[in-house]
Amino acid sequence: MSTFKAIVIEKEESGQRAALADFDSNDLMGGDVDVRVEWSTLNYKDGLAITGKAPVVRRFPMIAGIDFAGTVESSSHSAWKRGDRVLLNGWGCGETHLGGYAEKARVKGDWLVAIPPSMSAREAMAIGTAGYTAMLAAMALERHGVGPASGPLVVTGAAGGVGSVAVAILSKRGFEVTASTGRPGEIDYLRKLGANEIIERA
Ligand SMILES: NC(=O)c1ccc[n+]([C@@H]2O[C@H](COP(=O)([O-])OP(=O)(O)OC[C@H]3O[C@@H](n4cnc5c(N)ncnc54)[C@H](OP(=O)(O)O)[C@@H]3O)[C@@H](O)[C@H]2O)c1
Repeated sequence: MSTFKAIVIEKEESGQRAALADFDSNDLMGGDVDVRVEWSTLNYKDGLAITGKAPVVRRFPMIAGIDFAGTVESSSHSAWKRGDRVLLNGWGCGETHLGGYAEKARVKGDWLVAIPPSMSAREAMAIGTAGYTAMLAAMALERHGVGPASGPLVVTGAAGGVGSVAVAILSKRGFEVTASTGRPGEIDYLRKLGANEIIERA
């Protein structure tokens, strides 16, 4: 039997319990790419899953972790081969599919993204799913024809995970960014990220 270390969430009569455990490789779920996981992030959703404070986990046992970055160990998917550096954000990992808080993950190759050569796996996960989401939002604005010439733009929840990366990306792309926050203590941080103006959330 081959096992790997993982943070496993089990359902018990009194609720659920998360612990570092040895997970049997034979119990991995279906997928055409095996990845040696090197880094993951701690997303808000992971906190909910591990504490059981919201019903994030939809099957038990579950390996927590909604994202990961690592190296392909084996693949029968045409896009990936052993040694490729990859990352995954979401796709139900840590919720319906075994997630990234583990030494190993088996997933669908279609869910994976190549890590750019200039970026380490650790850096990819420092951006994390929150940063990835912020970038998707920035790209959606551009797709809808909203650019710096459209005028100033407000980022709500600016000091949060998605908001802070959104402030940084949008200001780098030339937008005039107004950051809305409920945390006046983060004003300097938001300015450093590139916010032109800060407004306090009512
Ligand atoms: N993180 C992800 O990967 C991800 C992916 C997809 C969608 N989302 C969604 O994106 C949103 C932000 O997620 P996040 O991960 O960035 O969460 P987060 O780090 O907890 O940030 C949320 C921010 O929202 C602001 N906020 C809190 N209470 C508020 C209220 N009552 N009214 C207005 N603003 C309030 C706060 O901003 P200030 O600190 O500036 O006051 C807080 O930091 C959530 O709706 C989440 O479901 C997140």
